[in-house]
Amino acid sequence: MLSHLQFPDHEMMSANTADIIADTIKADPSLVLCMASGHTPARTCELLVEKILNQGIDHSRLSFIGLDEWVGLPGNNEGSCRYFFEHKIFSPLQMDPSQYHLFDALSNDLETELRKMDQLILKKGIDLMVVGIGMNGHIGFNEPGTPFTSLCHVADLDEITTSVGQKYFKEVTTLSRGITVGLGHLMNARHLILIANGARKAGVVQRALEGPVDPSFPASIVQRHENVTIITDFEAASLLGKS
Ligand code: GLP
Repeated sequence: MLSHLQFPDHEMMSANTADIIADTIKADPSLVLCMASGHTPARTCELLVEKILNQGIDHSRLSFIGLDEWVGLPGNNEGSCRYFFEHKIFSPLQMDPSQYHLFDALSNDLETELRKMDQLILKKGIDLMVVGIGMNGHIGFNEPGTPFTSLCHVADLDEITTSVGQKYFKEVTTLSRGITVGLGHLMNARHLILIANGARKAGVVQRALEGPVDPSFPASIVQRHENVTIITDFEAASLLGKS
């Protein structure tokens, strides 16, 4: 089942997304949560932390999986996904390192990183997965052409991803590969949430929800998921129903 929740602005969609995540943790304290970093979920993360702390929600058994990472970037680079999660989630919630699982993008054995994450996900299962959408329709670093059955993998990034990705960095940064949880794992997540905001995402949201379901546009996979919630602001939803 696919449902679409729309809110007037980014703040309201972030508050509602944070509510859903917080309520899900409350209902199942040993939840396995897999999340994307990036500008879209940044406010959701802040509000989620506020809600967890203010409501005293038990997060001591929560397991967290980072969706993706730029290969070769150190965790102290402000544009890395590790930096994002450490500052927005792990440190404010004082999470124990045993609770969170991120790809080591500096590893000289990425194959082992991939298999470790695959095994973890196959063993625990992902209860709730919160993803964004890139300007080429990617989810995580599942770039156009990625098979819908893919497990964790390293991807050569396409030109749109490497140029749009500069927005996370203070200085021009060489980005060429990404390591990511695959679309096969996404399909098996018990609940999938895709979030998008802003007018510039309207075209990709329309293609994801109303275009053909095809690996050339990875986010179209949401149309096949059994339990997916799309959460957008009005701007990102502005082209829906208009083609
Ligand atoms: C990035 C990441 C994705 C993210 C997407 C959208 O490149 N690999 O995980 O969801 O692009 O990012 P943003 O939310 O900043 O628009």
